[in-house]
Parts: sequence; structure tokens; C-alpha cells
Amino acid sequence: MKVFSKISETTSFLQEQRNIGKTIGFVPTMGALHEGHLALMQQAKEENDLLVVSVFVNPIQFNKSSDLEKYPRNLEQDKKLLERVKCDILFAPTVEEMYPEPIIKEYDFGMLGKVMEGANRPGHFNGVAIVVKKLFDITIPNKAYFGEKDFQQLAIIKKLVAMEHLNLEIVPCPIVREFDGLAMSSRNERLTAQQRKNAPFIYKTLQQALKMTASKSVMEVKSWVENEFNSNDAFGLEYFEVGDAVDLQQVKDWKGTKNIMGFVVANMRNVRLIDNIRLFNNFADSNNG
Ligand code: PAJ
Repeated sequence: MKVFSKISETTSFLQEQRNIGKTIGFVPTMGALHEGHLALMQQAKEENDLLVVSVFVNPIQFNKSSDLEKYPRNLEQDKKLLERVKCDILFAPTVEEMYPEPIIKEYDFGMLGKVMEGANRPGHFNGVAIVVKKLFDITIPNKAYFGEKDFQQLAIIKKLVAMEHLNLEIVPCPIVREFDGLAMSSRNERLTAQQRKNAPFIYKTLQQALKMTASKSVMEVKSWVENEFNSNDAFGLEYFEVGDAVDLQQVKDWKGTKNIMGFVVANMRNVRLIDNIRLFNNFADSNNG
């Protein structure tokens, strides 16, 4: 594996590779890698000649400085895992390398950027979009891989690609979970043993919500989920939303839109956990019937 920290050496190496006809699969990350990240990389490795991974804890996407400070960093361990998935190129720049000057760009993602994570973490998606655009400009991938765990981020990136007329394919990858259903996350490392024991409650509740869609209205499911979280002392529910899988706007009815998702963010003290589930698929429904 080649390891680069400079933009210029990365661009010139990758330019040579493109010139000899190699295709590039790119997986951007903030490190503290786990099986969820590795699944994206395995898919990228299979579908492209070269696997390029970036590890960069992007300061401008953290709206709380305490969250940025506490974000786990372990580049040496990450390198070992990257060797395991036969990563070809690791790009791990410093903050100064990525942002030599203050950034003033402001993206407008319309309604997509105004709900859920957009509403609750001001500036977050702008910071994500700036860094991802920059990373795309450096790596110029044929395909880039993003997890459905950050479902709204994936939608934002698709919109960014359309807005900037970028010539690459965004590949969505399913959520990878622990044996007990907890969505894998770098933040899980920060849970105490007791919190870790309680954390699978999030996905269990989403699965219950899915079962309830057969007989209950959207509002009934929503209130039930909110009530479950609010009566569990281990969690502070930030939101549970039922929304359209494409524009992510709230839906009030199971009918009338193709794919409907449930989106949750719950805090376990100071650890923010995000998850989602596909609740309803009218397309499959009409195919079956
Ligand atoms: P990070 O949280 O490190 O995640 C990197 C990629 O891994 C994202 O596409 C994320 O959705 C995916 N991922 C994380 N956990 C996953 C899981 N359990 N199952 C499937 N995919 C998972 O997301 C970011 O970094 C940053 O915002 C970034 C895009 C790198 C920009 O800084």
C-alpha cells in the first residue's frame, strides 16, 4: 500500500495510473476503521483496478468542538486494516494540507439539507460537501462508495455530484451491524460497557416499528417509537422521523410514495448514535399484488 499525505503526490501518482487505463474506486473515511468501512472497501476493490481510501478527520463538518476533540484517531491500526483489504493507496493529509486557507464556499442543498441532520447539525453537510468535493478533485475516482448508515449524507453527496456535474458513480452500500444489531460506528468505541449493552435497543425499536407498519398509521408508529425512547433512561432521543427515501421529507401516509424510511438519532450521554431502517416499499407492494 502506498501512503500519501500530500495532495500533489497523490494527484500525480493517480494521474499515471489513469494514463495506463486503471480504474479508481474511492472510499472517503474519517478513520477509526471498522467492519462497516471495510465492507465498502471490499466492494470498491472488487469493482475497480485500484482501491483508494482517504483518512481525514474533517474539522469543518463538526459543529461541536468537543465532538471533534473526542473523535477517535488511530492511523497505525487503520493502516493494518487497510492492508487486510489490500488497499492500494491511502491518502491521509493534515488539516493544513487540506485547508491552507479559510473556506468560504456555501452549498445550498435545498430541502434535503434542511431536515434531520441538516436541521440539527448546522453547517455539517456544508463541511461534508466541501471535503468530499475536494477529495473527488484529488482522486478523480470512477466510483465512490458511501454507507447507507449515513443515509442523508449519501443523498447530499448524490446531489453534490449532480450540482457540480461530476463524472463519477456514487455506490450506496448497506449498513453493517454488530451481532446484536447495533450499527457499526467509530463512535461505538466511546460507549461504556453498560451503554454498549443497552445500545442494540435502537435497532430493536426500529425493527418493531417495521412490524407495526402493517397495522398502524405513520403517526401511530412515530409516537410509539418516541415513547419507547422517552421511557428508556439510557437514551436521549434527538429525533425519529418517517421520511421519503429520495427527498427525505416527512411522510404522513404509507401510501403515495415509493420507499419510506425511519431515521433515528439517539444520544447515550455524550455519544450520538444514528441509524435507519426501510419501513415501506410501495414498489415491492404493487409488484407482489
Ligand atoms: P465516516 O464516518 O468515517 O464514514 C465513512 C463511510 O463509511 C461513510 O460512507 C459511512 O456511511 C460509511 N459507514 C460507516 N459506518 C458504516 C456501517 N456500519 N455500515 C455501512 N457503512 C458505514 O462519513 C464520513 O466518515 C465523513 O462524513 C466523510 C464522508 C468521510 C467526509 O468527511
